[in-house]
Amino acid sequence: MNFEFTEEQLAVKQAARDFARQECLPGVIERDELQRFPKEQIYKLAELGFMGMMVKPEYGGSGMDTISYVLAMEEISKIDASVSVCVSVNNSLVCYGLQEYGSEEQKQKYLTPLAQGIKDGELYIGAFLLSEPEAGSDATSQRTTAEDKGDHYVLNGIKNWITNGNSASVYLVIAQTDPAKGHKGINAFIVEKNWPGVTVGAKENKLGIRGSDTHSISFQDVIVPKENRIGADGFGFKFAMKTLEGGRIGIASQALGIASGAYELALAYSKERKAFGQPIMNHQIIQFKLADMATKIEAARLFCLKAAWEKDQHLDYTLSGSMAKVFASETAMWTTTEAVQIHGGYGYVKEFHVERLMRDAKITQIYEGTSEIQRIVISRSILK
Ligand code: CAA
Ligand code: FAD
Repeated sequence: MNFEFTEEQLAVKQAARDFARQECLPGVIERDELQRFPKEQIYKLAELGFMGMMVKPEYGGSGMDTISYVLAMEEISKIDASVSVCVSVNNSLVCYGLQEYGSEEQKQKYLTPLAQGIKDGELYIGAFLLSEPEAGSDATSQRTTAEDKGDHYVLNGIKNWITNGNSASVYLVIAQTDPAKGHKGINAFIVEKNWPGVTVGAKENKLGIRGSDTHSISFQDVIVPKENRIGADGFGFKFAMKTLEGGRIGIASQALGIASGAYELALAYSKERKAFGQPIMNHQIIQFKLADMATKIEAARLFCLKAAWEKDQHLDYTLSGSMAKVFASETAMWTTTEAVQIHGGYGYVKEFHVERLMRDAKITQIYEGTSEIQRIVISRSILK
C-alpha cells in the first residue's frame, strides 16, 4: 500500500488550488448573493482540461485518473461549490456515462466536445436528468415517457432539480419506455437542449450552491432519434445507477472540499481572534473542535481516495463510493457548522465565507442520493 501521490496528481491538485484561489475566490460572495452561474470560471476550467478530466485524449479529454479528479474537486470546492458541482456533473455523470456506455458515434458527436467543454468557442457542457417531481429517491418510478416509434422515440414529461439545467447544451435523460417492464423498461437518451419541445423552467431559488443553475426541464413530443438511445433497450436504469456510483465520488469530494475549506478558515481565525487576553486557539475547547474537524476530514479524504482508487483499478466501488458520500457529506455539515461557531458572530455574516460553506454543505446530504439512500445502498451491500 502506498499513500504517496504521483507528481502528476500533485500537479493537478496545485493547478486546481491556484485556479480556485485566483479565479473562483474573487466574486464568490456576489455570485452566491445574485445566484449568478460561474460561466467565466467554467469556461476557463474547460480551457485547462478540467471538464473532461477522466476522458481519454482521443475523445477530447485529459486522460487523468480518478484520484486526480478527487484532488481537484476538493481544491475547487474549498472555494466555490457552485463551480465544483458543475465540474462534477459534467465529468462524473455526463462524460463518464458517455465514455463508458455510449456508442462510437455518440462519443464522436457528443462526448468529444463535452469533454473539451467548449464547442465553436462557446461553453458546451451537459446535464443528467433522472429526478422528477414524483421520482427522487424512488428513481424507478419514472413518469417521463419515451414512446418507441420505430426509428425514433417521442419524449414527454418533466424533470426537476436539474444542475446545469440552463447552461447545458446536452441532456442525458432517463425515461420510461415500457411501464409493464418496470425498471427494465427504462431507457437513457441524449437530448439536445435546442430541440423542438424542450423547455427550460425557472431557476430554483436555493439555500446553497446558489451560483449553480438548477432548473426543471420539460419535454413535449420531443423527437429523439433511435441512435441517441444509450445502450441496449431497457438499459436506462442500470445506466443511471452505474453512472451515479462514480458521481457519488465526485460529490463526496465536493463535501470533503467544503469541509476542509471551512476548517482552514476556522484554523486561521482561531489564531487571529483574541478573547480573554489570548488567541481563541489557546482555549482547549477550540483546540478539540479543530482536532475533531481535522480527524473527520482526513477520514473523509481517505474514503474518497479509496473509492477513487477502486474505480481506477476497475474494482467494484459501489460500497466505498456510498460510504465516502455519506461520511464526507455529514462531515461537511458538521464541520461547517462548527466553523461558524468558531467564528462567533463574524461566522454569521457573508464576508467570512463560512456561512456560505455551511449552506453549501447541506446539499451534499441530499443530491446524488440522500444520506438515507446511501445507507440503504451500504446496508444492502453488507447484508447480501
Ligand atoms: N449498479 C447496477 N445495477 C444496479 C445498481 C447499481 N449500483 N443499483 C441497483 N441496480 C439494479 C438492480 O440490480 C435492479 O436490477 P435487477 O432487477 O435486474 O437486479 C434494479 O437496478 C433496481 O434496483 P433496486 O431493486 O435495488 O431498486 P430500488 O427501487 O430499491 O432503488 C436505489 C434502488 C439505490 C434506492 C435507487 O433508486 C437510487 O439510487 N435512488 C437515488 C437516486 C439518486 O441518487 N438520484 C440522483 C439524481 S442525479 C443528481 O442528484 C445530480 C446532482 O445532484 C448534481
Ligand atoms: P424524496 O425522495 O422525496 O425524499 C424525501 C426524504 O425521504 C429524504 O430525506 C429521503 O432520504 C427520505 N427517503 C426517501 N425514500 C426513503 C427510504 N426508502 N427510506 C428512508 N428514507 C427515505 N437530480 C437529477 O436527476 N439531476 C441533477 O442534476 C440534480 N441536481 C440537483 C440539484 C439540487 C440543488 C437539488 C436540490 C437536487 C438535485 N437533484 C438532481 C435531485 C436530487 O437527486 C433529489 O432531490 C434527491 O435524489 C432526493 O429526491 P427528492 O428530493 O424527491 O426527495
